[in-house]
Amino acid sequence: MSFDKLVLVQLSDTHFSDDPNSTGLNEPRGQEGHDVSLVTALANALDNVWARHNITDPLQRHVVLTGDLSRFGIVAEFRTAMNILLGYIPVPGLPQIAGIQSVLGLGLVDIFMIPGNHDHWAGRPSAWLNYGAHNPAIFGVQPDPDAPFVQTPWNGTIPSQHGHFELRLYGVDSNSGHAGKERNYSSGGRISRDELARLSVMMSSEKPDRKRIRAILCHHSLGRDIWEPAGPLDAQSVRTLLSISARHGVAAILTGHTHRMFQKARKARSGKTPREVWERRAASALQGPAEPGCNGFLVHILTLEDSATDRVQWNTDEYRWTMSGFARVAGDTPTTAFY
Ligand SMILES: [Fe+2]
Repeated sequence: MSFDKLVLVQLSDTHFSDDPNSTGLNEPRGQEGHDVSLVTALANALDNVWARHNITDPLQRHVVLTGDLSRFGIVAEFRTAMNILLGYIPVPGLPQIAGIQSVLGLGLVDIFMIPGNHDHWAGRPSAWLNYGAHNPAIFGVQPDPDAPFVQTPWNGTIPSQHGHFELRLYGVDSNSGHAGKERNYSSGGRISRDELARLSVMMSSEKPDRKRIRAILCHHSLGRDIWEPAGPLDAQSVRTLLSISARHGVAAILTGHTHRMFQKARKARSGKTPREVWERRAASALQGPAEPGCNGFLVHILTLEDSATDRVQWNTDEYRWTMSGFARVAGDTPTTAFY
């Protein structure tokens, strides 16, 4: 029995279609929409997560989404997404999927979201590789299903269950460096210098007087395997992001984009002091057609064992799609974060 705890579900790359009942079978791989059968399975899996951790209070069901909420970055897809994820924004004419509102039950909590490259497409590609690069219209004042993202960089706080520590989240847009560009052929990421500078100032300006664990949400992965087609974050952005993370004691960077689970400690430096910053990358939660290896999500469990210590243990469970449901694979990648 731990002294205090915080559970955070990380969904990524949901790729919601404008059709709530999409099966994601009609497009080239990479451009499909969500698979409605995965939505139902996710609802069941989340119920299991909350039950496993004895979370009965809906306000302690915390969820983040690390980008590619939508398939083509159009308003109809954003509306589908908000309806299915939150279930509380009435959208005239959009059919409800039976059971979603009561089963997903995310309408009572803030869902912290950052955009991915697909969310910036503004309806393109109209031709092969003609991907949109950056669309400022997706950032709105919440709640707004037509512009569902909060302007980045943002920060937000998730308190632990008993208030002994907090998880401080920072959201960046890894497409901000493409502002003004016509296309993004490689789907790679770049964070603007201005955005990185503001992130750094945001962290510097916070007095270290709270028991605070820090994590950054960034859609693009910090690296990729050679066979993965989606471009990663560019090297300069990676260097700066890791350097900011080391300087400010960031425990983890939560990513998506490649549709593959991946967890690794990245080496970073603050002055002469080496630090580890964990990249914790989630697979695609909902993109169809459902396929083992491609679909899944992460559950981050932050635990404070007793009040005398200042060490929070961060473990991440992987939930992988097995064709009959999402199955838990216990994480073997614990890290210890100090506050
Ligand atoms: Fe992506």
